[in-house]
Amino acid sequence: MINKINTLGGYFHEYQKSISNPEQFWAQQAEEFFWRNHWTQVTDWDFSTPKIQWFVDAKLNITENIFERNLYTHGDQPAIYWEPNDPQRPERVLTYRQLLAQVNQFANALKDEGIRKGDTVTIYMPMIPELAIAVLACARIGAIHSVVFAGFSANALQDRIKNSGSRIVLTADGGFRGHKTIPLKSIVDEALQGLDQVTTVVIFEHTQQPIDCHPERDISWHDFITGKSKDCTAEVMDSEDPLFIIYTSGSTGQPKGIVHSSGGYMVYSAYTFKNIFQYCNGDVYFCTADIGWITGHSYLIYGPLLNAAKVVMFEGVPNWPDPGRMWEIIEKYQVNQFYTAPTAIRSLLASGTEFLEDKDLSSLKVIGTVGEPINEDAWHWVHDHVGQNRCPIVDTWWQTETGGMMIAPLAGITPTKPSFATLPVPGIQPAVVDAEGNELSGNSVTGNLCIRYPWPGMARSIWGDHQRYKKTYFTPFAGYYFSGDGVRRDEDGYYRILGRVDDVINVSGHRLGTAEIENAINEHPLVNESAIVGYPHPIKGQGIYAFVVCPQTSTGGEEGVKQSIQRGVSKRIGAIAKPDLIQIVPGLPKTRSGKIMRRILRKIAEGDATDLGDTSTLLDEQVVQQIIDEALVPVKR
Ligand code: WT7
Repeated sequence: MINKINTLGGYFHEYQKSISNPEQFWAQQAEEFFWRNHWTQVTDWDFSTPKIQWFVDAKLNITENIFERNLYTHGDQPAIYWEPNDPQRPERVLTYRQLLAQVNQFANALKDEGIRKGDTVTIYMPMIPELAIAVLACARIGAIHSVVFAGFSANALQDRIKNSGSRIVLTADGGFRGHKTIPLKSIVDEALQGLDQVTTVVIFEHTQQPIDCHPERDISWHDFITGKSKDCTAEVMDSEDPLFIIYTSGSTGQPKGIVHSSGGYMVYSAYTFKNIFQYCNGDVYFCTADIGWITGHSYLIYGPLLNAAKVVMFEGVPNWPDPGRMWEIIEKYQVNQFYTAPTAIRSLLASGTEFLEDKDLSSLKVIGTVGEPINEDAWHWVHDHVGQNRCPIVDTWWQTETGGMMIAPLAGITPTKPSFATLPVPGIQPAVVDAEGNELSGNSVTGNLCIRYPWPGMARSIWGDHQRYKKTYFTPFAGYYFSGDGVRRDEDGYYRILGRVDDVINVSGHRLGTAEIENAINEHPLVNESAIVGYPHPIKGQGIYAFVVCPQTSTGGEEGVKQSIQRGVSKRIGAIAKPDLIQIVPGLPKTRSGKIMRRILRKIAEGDATDLGDTSTLLDEQVVQQIIDEALVPVKR
């Protein structure tokens, strides 16, 4: 069994062990799994290359560890309870044995299509069981899955397909989200225009909406799997073979394909799931994240299924048909652990407790949050009303790149403080580093959040660009992994995440690069240049504030331009990246060398221009005054 900590003393003891002898600690966790070959070395690493390896030379298949390892004890237990978007439609339940049969069948279909170990497969699907089946089928045969969130636009999807080199795309005719139907297949058609790299598109019929058919390329899911065997021997993978790629935004240009490993990722996602949520055999666990994000990979699929958990997967959105939907699901499936995002809590909080009152939430034991800091109001609301003063709130800090939770309380064990992610997970060595790269020791310090020692779940590279991996994470502070976040370690040694210190913003728990949005805006024919900053937003956490230089507006006037900018961003990236505020400005504050002084724009967007800091390098003071005068938020000065 994976070691499960159950007291605070036990946590401190394990933590000590994990840092005084990390190799022994992780080897002990890894022993639980089924390896085709044992490792010759627990880890081999060097942050300067950078090279990171865990369970060197070991062989395994992660799906054997989900299925074969658990089948005797849990084969007939539900693996997935699927709740459809529309509560009137029937739910679906798949046991471990049934899920394996479907995974195998799809895996065989992929193999017959010529997909081999090491090939990439792009998946652009709604939140239906077939998405999980597709992911696991890739893992079964050693193909590298690249799931693209089904809210991304055709352009964004095309970028990701090109970058990953996939020649196959798995999709559905459409997806339901609240009252909306998303035409996924037609978005795929648009993404594939002029891209002959993709030879096969497999379409699951879900919404039954009409779609265009390209007979030479398209095949229905049904035809794709017909006649394929439900037995499929798992491909033997090296511990360091990539399991998947997932794209995330950085502070510059194109999104990065974060590469995760097979062996280390398996151990880390399973260990953290079990310990942080204190999952017990038979518990029902509900994660609201979409599989298109890392949370869905690590804590809807891999972590829970490796622990033979019962997982609730939900197709829809929290506030449809009404803001009581989440609570209804918790009641219906008697959910024990509920993992969600602060933004969802804030949006439900706004509808009051009326939708909670008639629901029985007594099954809940643990409430987890991820993606952004949880503010104190949301913390207390969820603690008092949803958790009924009984459930620990686990505020989990981690990132796409970390593969799993890094700083988080162990539910019911670590004493919590609102808005603190609390203490590091065993095996994780956080460091608070100042601007000069010096590690700040002791408590009550603030600085850049870095990690001093590797952990099995960490990303191994950026797909096709190892240099960028080095430059982004290992160059800013030599000898450390740099997270991009600011942090405070308080007088008790508790960590409070302060948010990004780079040009990345976090909107409703979704990470967006300011440069990516600016590029999309700058494509507009009337726009000369633009700058994006985040500003405090009551529900989204951060909203997107765009300062746009646009000397002429066409016939639609300023409003017309703003709307067409919005449409442009939606088309280029997706609706999640649309600016909340667009201010047309005469120019941007720049240094004499031409660099945009975002710091000043950030202050203005935050509504406080009382102290703009050092403005001695500013080229044109006048521009700043005018931006403040015409700001779209009240600005103190
Ligand atoms: C960024 C990573 C990990 C899955 C979801 C987001 C922010 C994440 C917290 C938290 C404060 C948080 C950080 C981080 N973040 N969790 N509990 N408290 N901030 O993954 O898209 O890779 O974004 O989200 O700024 O760097 P992601």
